[in-house]
Amino acid sequence: MQDLVDSALERINSAGTAADLEVVRVDVLGRKGVLAQLSKDMGKLTADEKVARGKFINAAKQTLETAYESLRDRFASEALTARLDSEWLDLTVPAPGVKPGALHPITQIQWEIEDLFRSLGFSVLDGPEVETEHHNFDALNIPADHPARDMQDTFWLDAGGPLGRFLLRTHTSPVQVRGMESLPLPLRMIAPGRVFRNESVDASHEHTFYQLEGMMIDKNVSVGNLIYFMKTLLSAIFKREVTVRLRPGYFPFVEPGFELDIRCLICGGPGCPVCKQSGWVELLPCGLINPHVLSKSGIDPTQWNGFAFGLGLTRLVMMRYAIDDIRWLQSGDLRFLDQFKSEQFAQ
Ligand code: DAH
Repeated sequence: MQDLVDSALERINSAGTAADLEVVRVDVLGRKGVLAQLSKDMGKLTADEKVARGKFINAAKQTLETAYESLRDRFASEALTARLDSEWLDLTVPAPGVKPGALHPITQIQWEIEDLFRSLGFSVLDGPEVETEHHNFDALNIPADHPARDMQDTFWLDAGGPLGRFLLRTHTSPVQVRGMESLPLPLRMIAPGRVFRNESVDASHEHTFYQLEGMMIDKNVSVGNLIYFMKTLLSAIFKREVTVRLRPGYFPFVEPGFELDIRCLICGGPGCPVCKQSGWVELLPCGLINPHVLSKSGIDPTQWNGFAFGLGLTRLVMMRYAIDDIRWLQSGDLRFLDQFKSEQFAQ
C-alpha cells in the first residue's frame, strides 16, 4: 500500500506542466484514483483493521493533496510571472504628446481678410445661419415673385415670424441688412460665414460653402472707391499686384452691379485651362448699393450711398491652393487637412 502512495507521490512531483499535473490529479485524487483503490476492500476488514486503514488513507490523502496543491500553486505563480513579464510596460517613457492640429484653410484665409479689413476701419459682423425671408431676400430687393429667387434655392423651415418664413441663408448678403439696422453711419463692415443652397453636390457645387460679404456706406462713394478696396483685398490675398476689370453683372441689391475679374494668375493673360483660355478669372461680384435697399433699411439714399461685394471664400481657397474638388473642404479628411498646417497658424 505504501508503494502505491509513494509512486503516486512520485508521479505528482514529476509533473512538468500544469496540464500534466491535472492528468495526475485525476489519476491519483479522482473518484477512481489511487486513494479510492485503497478503500475498495474496506468491507472485508475487521474493525481494528478498518481503523488502521482509515488512518493510513487519511495520512496518504493529506500527503498527496499537499504535494498536489503546492505544485499547482507553483505553476500558477510561474504563469502569472510569465504574463507580467510579457505585458511589461515602461511607465517612465515620456508620453508621445498631442498631435498638433491647425486651422482649416478656409478659416486661415478668412482670418487674413478680417485682419486686412480691420486695418482699413471695417467692423467684422456675424449673422445667423437660420435667417428670415425678409433679411435674405425682400430687404435685398428680391421680392417673392422675383426670378432671382430661383437662382438661390434653399432649405426652408416650417417655422416663421413677422419677417417671413425662416430659411438657411443662401448668401452672406443678409448681414448687410443687419449691419444697416445696427451700425451708425457712415459704416464699414464685413461678414464672413457659412451659407447654404439646395444644390446637387459635385466637384464644383456644395450645399454648404463660405462667403465673405463687405459693405461700405458713406457720402459720395464711387466705383473708384470700390475698385481701390477690391484691388487692395486681392493683392493682399494673392500676395502680389493683381490686374482687375469690371463687367456688368446683375444682382437686385446693387445698381450698377459688376462681376470683377482678375487677370489669370496662372498664365498671366494669354489663356490656359484655368481661365478657360480667356485670360481672366471671375472672382468677385460687387456694385454700388441699390437706393431701394438703403431706403428699405431706413437710410436716406439722397444723403448716403455705398458699395457692397460678396467674395466666395470657398472658391478663393480652391484657387489659391489649386484644389480641384470642392468636396474635400467639408470632408474632414486628415490626409487633405494636414497639407495646410502653415507655420503661422499651427498651434
Ligand atoms: N450675394 C450674392 C450671391 O451670393 C453675391 C453678391 C453680389 C454679393 C453682389 C454682393 C454684391 O454684396 O454686391 O450670389
